Amino acid sequence: MRILVIGSGGREHALVWKFRQHLENTVFAAPGNGGTDGLAQNTRIAADAIPELVDFARREKIDLVVPGPELPLTLGITDAMNRAGIPCFGPDAYCARLEGSKSFAKEIMVEAGVPTAACATFTNLVAAKDYARKQGAPLVIKADGLAAGKGVVVAQSLEEALAALDEMMGKKIHGAAANTVLIEEYLTGEEVSFLCLCDGREALPLPSAQDHKAVFDGDTGPNTGGMGAYSPAPLLPDNQLERMADLVIRPVMKSMAGRGHPFTGVLYAGLMLTANGPKVLEYNVRFGDPECQPLMLRLESDLATLMLACIEGRIAREELVYTRATALGVVLCASGYPGSYPGGMEITGLDEAEKDTGVIVFHGGTVHKEGRLLSSGGRVLCVTALGSGLVAAQQNAYGALKKICMPNGFYRRDIGTKGINFLQDN
Ligand code: AMP
Ligand code: GLY
Repeated sequence: MRILVIGSGGREHALVWKFRQHLENTVFAAPGNGGTDGLAQNTRIAADAIPELVDFARREKIDLVVPGPELPLTLGITDAMNRAGIPCFGPDAYCARLEGSKSFAKEIMVEAGVPTAACATFTNLVAAKDYARKQGAPLVIKADGLAAGKGVVVAQSLEEALAALDEMMGKKIHGAAANTVLIEEYLTGEEVSFLCLCDGREALPLPSAQDHKAVFDGDTGPNTGGMGAYSPAPLLPDNQLERMADLVIRPVMKSMAGRGHPFTGVLYAGLMLTANGPKVLEYNVRFGDPECQPLMLRLESDLATLMLACIEGRIAREELVYTRATALGVVLCASGYPGSYPGGMEITGLDEAEKDTGVIVFHGGTVHKEGRLLSSGGRVLCVTALGSGLVAAQQNAYGALKKICMPNGFYRRDIGTKGINFLQDN
């Protein structure tokens, strides 16, 4: 098959790597990174250049297009590829609003009866502040639209909540993404990522995963795109996946189909497991990054076959085969991330890290230049290992990380520790 993967992060490297397990597949990455360029042909087309991507797919006779990030999906890449008769694994622009607009997602959750945090929506700063004062802290303030992962402020005090409203609605730090703002009830509990492959009518659950969003150990510091992930998450074992799909995925699919837009692709529920049961924090309409990296390491089924089954509406007849082993990935970042960070740092030791270990180093932000591998992003690598359990997977990933050198690099030392503590306590 000829496959085009769109995007340039660790998730896209993992998808390319998975497709290339079948050597007969020819894979292109747009634009790709220093990790995909050995496995796929990188093209210079940006992930949001929809007409150029369609032209490329047509010219190269692509059999399957796989957008990694949300942006091309919200911009309508699936609609555009479908108009050109090219199979594309992902929702149409209407369904992608589940991620692109948090108020739309709330509307669907309410319609579908999915448990989620109570919430009010505002377009007026004064009204929003009045409401925040009436509710009192803690509160969660969310920009409605896409804000590069920075549109959510968990405010522990009223002052923080009011300041966040001022920044979003007054100073417009996220631009039009915060024309509408949500003020949400603060929930407590453990977070789990729950992803399903969807074919418009049916959903096939993937094993659970847990991301680590805060930048520093012990879940402190600002939120990032994700500092590491592992699968399965003991909080959501395999025998609860079907029940969870019934609660948070299938009702949404029914709503979307009822609106004339059946959901196809990955539907990802970010869950908070509260004392009052699971609640949905957000939907994503694509694989998570870094959750995709451990998931791809575990998946034994052919990914292209599964994706085509979704596109053709027959996922219910497919079976998901994956290793029972645990996979865990730790993200190596450039210092300063998620704020500004330096680029161009030389990375060495990858061959040693991967040799005879089964470890795969997925690249998130790298480029090859004059025979050297240089960093080019905030999240540079995701060092991903398998192990017979969470402790073993953690040891294997951190063991491999020790062999990798990058000046000005840092990573969390506790990816997986929450899961290990949960297993000890239960
Ligand atoms: P979101 O993009 O909506 O998933 O929000 C990003 C992060 O903010 C989540 O992963 C949570 O850690 C936190 N968060 C979001 N909504 C809430 C909420 N209602 N209560 C507590 N924390 C939240
Ligand atoms: N890892 C969280 C996300 O991809 O949104």
